[in-house]
Amino acid sequence: MASEQELEEIRRRVDIVDLISNYVTMRKAGANFKALCPFHEERTGSFMISPEKQIYKCFGCNEGGDIFGFVIKMEGLNFPEAIRFLADRSGVKIEDKFEPTQEKKDDKNRLLNINELASKYFQTILLNHELGKGALEYLKKRGISEEMIRKFRIGFAPEKRGLGDFLVKRGFRESEIAAAGKPERFYKRIMFPIADPMGTTIAFTGREFPDGPGPKYLNTAETALFHKSRALYGLNNAKMAIRQKGSIIFVEGQMDVIASHQAGVENVVASSGTAVTEDHFRIMYRYAQRFVLAFDNDEAGQKATEKVIEICLRENYTADVCVLPAEFKDAGEVIEKVPQMWPELIKKAIPAVQWHFDRAFSMVGDEMSLNGTQKKQIAAKLLPIINQIADSVEKQHYLQKLANRLSVTVEILKGSIKQDKYASKKPSEPVGEEIKKIEKLDLQGELIGQLINNPGLGKEFIGKINEKHFTNTYITIVKMIKIWYNEAVIISENVQKELISYLRKNLNEADQEILKKIIDSSMNPKNELEAGEDNATIESAINQTLEHLSLNYHENQKLDFARAIGEAEESGDRKKVKELLSQLQTFLQSAGGIKNGEKDN
Ligand code: UTP
Ligand code: MN
Repeated sequence: MASEQELEEIRRRVDIVDLISNYVTMRKAGANFKALCPFHEERTGSFMISPEKQIYKCFGCNEGGDIFGFVIKMEGLNFPEAIRFLADRSGVKIEDKFEPTQEKKDDKNRLLNINELASKYFQTILLNHELGKGALEYLKKRGISEEMIRKFRIGFAPEKRGLGDFLVKRGFRESEIAAAGKPERFYKRIMFPIADPMGTTIAFTGREFPDGPGPKYLNTAETALFHKSRALYGLNNAKMAIRQKGSIIFVEGQMDVIASHQAGVENVVASSGTAVTEDHFRIMYRYAQRFVLAFDNDEAGQKATEKVIEICLRENYTADVCVLPAEFKDAGEVIEKVPQMWPELIKKAIPAVQWHFDRAFSMVGDEMSLNGTQKKQIAAKLLPIINQIADSVEKQHYLQKLANRLSVTVEILKGSIKQDKYASKKPSEPVGEEIKKIEKLDLQGELIGQLINNPGLGKEFIGKINEKHFTNTYITIVKMIKIWYNEAVIISENVQKELISYLRKNLNEADQEILKKIIDSSMNPKNELEAGEDNATIESAINQTLEHLSLNYHENQKLDFARAIGEAEESGDRKKVKELLSQLQTFLQSAGGIKNGEKDN
């Protein structure tokens, strides 16, 4: 972690007006600057930037803070990441023993440079070279403007390959080019760079051009830079719009994303054709808490929709489904043919569970005269889905709804669920590779698994763990891990084994059971934290879990307050209401600091 002097130095060098002007257009208003708020949708500017105080404040949505707060919110970073972000941009060197060494950073930068150069190379060919002419015409014919081509850095890899030589001439070794994902191997493809959230190219997707034997799209293989289970196509270009709309439209392909931008809808990302994972959602959740699913109108798209709904219900994310009319194959086609329809369809998106209801009921005939078998079938489809809903109010709502439509009582439906007939059954057939996990851990268990799996890295995180974020189920294990990290004397080479045996020795039987569950699930090779991943990736995964835990905790606290205040209001206890409000105020203030992971220990 950076020292106070280092933070001061960053503050001295980064002017808030300069920083924010990279994101919004502002104009002078007296001593301050004024702009349209990047964090909510508005027509008149209530977003003020004070050069004198070096802070920003929106009088519309109440967002406010300093340079660090701004990049935390804007770039979806945590506090340490925000420090690094601003330090890198202002040239402040930070002493941080947990930072990768300079050498490692340089290596990584070289791989990034290869991909950056490759994307420039491909784009030059598309826009300025004879070899790219056909592809350029094709894109234009599909309604992609030159502005979009530049915004998404689309390029073309011609049949005649020259990128490899070009990179070698630039001083890159073959081994580095291979480690960067072999961009020189693509040929006869329209190239879509896949960027990280900052816009740096980390990989490519290439679309066959002209159409050939397939595959239609080809992705860079996994590299140290590119993890399919986390990459989100278009996120770098969507961030701002996502913040303003508070939602993310999730589509299937590159072309859908780009067409959507062209039609003026910019809060859109794609999973890049690869199977959607929970990690994708964890990352997106940093930017917005509502998802609109607009996958392709085919079997695979519907399956993906079902799978994503499952994730969202389980994790308690809000998901709506955008239903595309049957005559269009995907969002891209809607936009190519009837662009003005696209925003309308998004507006009409329906809640995920409603989507399942519509489908289940559309499969039977007249709802007024359902026979017993049909009712049974519908219940068998919908109860497992309803049973996945994490929020009890929402769950009750849909049970009631189903009971009404089937003319049975809610108790009967609840009974059906209790018989365990539907409880363990997955609502949809597993799709894609990554559903084969043994048992899904909740977030708290996941963090513990990450610490146990990476005992060498864990120490950095021990200080960041807030015991308040853990429920009774896990608290003893967490405390024990903390003690081990702070006090254990390690005698053998296998640190992990030592940690586990320490825990086994000191935990009671019930906690041992829980520990076993954590170990079984988190060490399952199919689970997300793959062995061999570089430290930075693991660290950032752990950081993300920590942040997510803290977020959940604060949301729950706020809900508790809301409930208590509601009750006090109902019983007319004004004194209590006032007291709770003031407690809430204090809580929210401290939460501002908590978000940056500093004051919460
Ligand atoms: P689609 O086949 O739906 O592509 O695949 P598209 O976006 O509609 O493309 P156009 O409009 O025909 O040009 C959707 C996504 O699935 C992945 C790609 O990321 C693609 O954008 N995909 C598709 C692959 O990875 N491999 C394939 O062979 C096909
Ligand atoms: Mn498609």
